[in-house]
Amino acid sequence: MIGEFIDGPLWYFSLTAFVIGVVWRIVSIVRAGVRPDLSIARGSAGRGAMRTIFSRFVPERTVTTRSRLQLIAGYMFHVGLLILLFFAQPHIDFIAERITGLSWPAVPHWVFIVAAEFAFAGLILLWLHRVLNPVTRLLSDMDDHIGSILVFLVMLTGCLALAQSHEALRLIHLFLAEVFLIYFPFSKLMHAFTFVMSRGYTGATMGRKGVNA
Ligand code: HEM
Repeated sequence: MIGEFIDGPLWYFSLTAFVIGVVWRIVSIVRAGVRPDLSIARGSAGRGAMRTIFSRFVPERTVTTRSRLQLIAGYMFHVGLLILLFFAQPHIDFIAERITGLSWPAVPHWVFIVAAEFAFAGLILLWLHRVLNPVTRLLSDMDDHIGSILVFLVMLTGCLALAQSHEALRLIHLFLAEVFLIYFPFSKLMHAFTFVMSRGYTGATMGRKGVNA
């Protein structure tokens, strides 16, 4: 009974809440607009935007030395998550069957497991740094902690579902993924989409002023 609810209505509700929520957040940011820049352009805003969107993947030297842990753990978590979410066989099968109808080649199972281990290690290191460092602790609010704990729980239950031994374990994993989808648009997890806009905006503003930011 509860299983049918998680597999059916709750799945469709969470997917709808995710899609509508993400679109609504992005549209409201775009509609807020920006003040017109009346100065004479000294460079190209478009080129500046494109440059900053990509150049920020490689940190400045000062960041590399001062925030090495966050940098390495950040890459471990995000790359690991990307691989396990979009290139692991069970997730590709689910996306193909329940969302897109399209499927693509998966990474070998051992790559899936290594990616999951990297993602776990990265997430735990980032969260420990957040709570142990006085500055990041002060800057963090409840949303930061809920986001981290929710992702951790989805990943943990994913590990329990790995053996595909019990239907209940799959359902617990699916249920937490659904809670994650509903929470996503209303939280800082939105940075998965908005990072392109914020980098692009900074790059365009600076590019127009002729500054390489
Ligand atoms: C360490 C990380 C993870 C591991 C090891 C993992 C593992 C698995 C496995 C083995 C299944 C297949 C279950 C089965 O068919 O019995 C599965 C399904 C699924 N996973 Fe994950 N997962 C992880 C992270 C995530 C994350 C982060 C999300 C989403 C935010 C997610 C969403 C899903 C969904 C929606 C399904 C489909 C459930 C179903 O078939 O009904 N997983 N995962």
